[in-house]
Amino acid sequence: MQATVEAPVRVFYALVPPPAMQSVLGDLAREVARRARGRPVPAGNIHLTLAFIGAWPSARLQLLIGIGEALAGEAMRVTLDTQGGFRRAGVAWIGPSRPPPALGALATALTGALTGAGVAQEERPFHPHLTLARKCRAAHAQAAVGPFEWDVDAVVLMRSDTRAEGARYERLAQWPLARGRA
Ligand code: 2AM
Repeated sequence: MQATVEAPVRVFYALVPPPAMQSVLGDLAREVARRARGRPVPAGNIHLTLAFIGAWPSARLQLLIGIGEALAGEAMRVTLDTQGGFRRAGVAWIGPSRPPPALGALATALTGALTGAGVAQEERPFHPHLTLARKCRAAHAQAAVGPFEWDVDAVVLMRSDTRAEGARYERLAQWPLARGRA
């Protein structure tokens, strides 16, 4: 008899804008991709990565779900007002010029909890952004855009399947962020 070998899944924690905002950002993505000569990210895929895990055994997903459940973070407003590019990665993005302190605190709490539980993460300094286009062949200079006001109220654990036609994301779990008392 042969043991069943479960294929690992590719996972990450993210913040996902509501559909109406994804749709607005999707329009911007098409415009940015045209200018940067890249491939737009489809509206429904637009997100901000908080922590990237990469390949993870599906039999151990409960550990990642428990960490999300125990995460304490505050709901926050993120003002997306800057577009730019990671030239070497061929990526064009939108992000906040002034991320609220709650955003950095949330990412730090999450990566700390993951490290504490022995979950290895790919090391990249946290640069909050939402990728709008990939495989860009032209430079994409930093510029003001919007602003788009985004009320962030949940953290999502996402699974990514990379296919020839592009990435396909699935929400595995989602946790609300606590409302401030203001
Ligand atoms: P990107 O948009 O800047 O490419 C799913 O692939 C998400 O995980 C994307 O938002 C992607 O960021 C991010 N990601 C992929 N590899 C990563 C890595 N090594 N470190 C941090 N984030 C990564």
